[in-house]
Amino acid sequence: MSFPLPPLTQIPPDVVALTDYEPLARQHLGEHAWAYYSGGAADEITLRENRTAFDDLKLVPRVLRDMKGGNTRTTLLGQTLEYPVLLAPIAYHRMAHEDGELATVLGASAMQAGMIVSTRASVMIEDIAAAAQTHLWFQLYVQPDRGFTQELVRRAENAGYQALVLTVDAPLTGIRNRLQRSGYRMREGVEAVNLRGMRQPDLRPRMAGENVAFGSLLDDAPTWKDAEWLLSFTKLPVLIKGILSPEDAEMAIERGFAGIIVSNHGGRVLDTTPPPIAVLPQIVEQAAGRVPVLMDGGVRRGTDVLKAVALGASAVLIGRPYLFALAVAGAVGVAHILNILRAEFEVAMGLTGCATVDQIQRSVLWQRPR
Ligand code: FNR
Ligand code: LAC
Repeated sequence: MSFPLPPLTQIPPDVVALTDYEPLARQHLGEHAWAYYSGGAADEITLRENRTAFDDLKLVPRVLRDMKGGNTRTTLLGQTLEYPVLLAPIAYHRMAHEDGELATVLGASAMQAGMIVSTRASVMIEDIAAAAQTHLWFQLYVQPDRGFTQELVRRAENAGYQALVLTVDAPLTGIRNRLQRSGYRMREGVEAVNLRGMRQPDLRPRMAGENVAFGSLLDDAPTWKDAEWLLSFTKLPVLIKGILSPEDAEMAIERGFAGIIVSNHGGRVLDTTPPPIAVLPQIVEQAAGRVPVLMDGGVRRGTDVLKAVALGASAVLIGRPYLFALAVAGAVGVAHILNILRAEFEVAMGLTGCATVDQIQRSVLWQRPR
């Protein structure tokens, strides 16, 4: 397997923020992998707005408060998190680094951040679990072969994963023009190893101009019935990822999901959806404390983490930033960006007068006077 550049053994001193890894990652990944990781759907409007929506929220500093004993700790599904940040599920880490998910999990363990392993991981889920010394969840894509799907869940349970994340927002790959223009092909030697041996869906041959979704992929796509089926046999708590509608949130809660992840898949599936940070308050209101609500999409700064928590998120997930750090500097890079984000979050808490995560309330967000 050839990589354009080997990972750096030392992090350059001018890499001090999450986004500082982006230009370096571009060199290390090469154009195809860069297009795959960094791109979004269609015109990438959602991809851009996931970020700018955070920038549009302004903070109110608070002064002279007693901050003794402050910390970033929080609890989620009965687990203690050192700080409310997890690594989002991302496919094929071995496209970014030879050791793939094994390097990622080392970095996450070093910084005690939870990691959500993708169904499309490029390393066996058992091997990732054996290397993990932190919270580990498994992200599930229900496969057309439901028997295989059930076996995959059993494997995750047996390997010690502590929760499942059912991703529901990508029954189809979005319209990925940037990827198409790049002439993308998957890096040789990288595959979804945990899906080996699975019966492939019987896709009818498509004629030019024939519909690409109805009558083929969508026939096998999971429904609420499959969600109920999953909840009926797994022992693990299951979160649902990819919710933007309060009605869907309600349907998930009624069926017994243990948590909701507000997400638009990092702007990669349907363009012109609203940014998760903008939808979060509606979903939090709908959940009304019955289950925890998490979010992802565009989190790049400690102030972003603070803003999400202020709007009711129990934790946030980061996606691309850790993948880029992995490409540039392996496990050390992953640990580095987690360390930066945690430090920035502490500074943001300190300067808004919040000594504990519980104290981060909506009042930290500035309201424009009417
Ligand atoms: C993803 N995401 C994703 N989600 C998922 O549930 N299973 C998966 O296999 C993948 N794969 C994947 C690959 C790549 C390259 C990206 C960028 C994203 C979505 C991911 O979990 C998360 O929702 C977004 O990445 C969050 O947005 P940011 O932090 O990247 O802006
Ligand atoms: C993606 C799929 C794998 O976003 O979720 O590329």
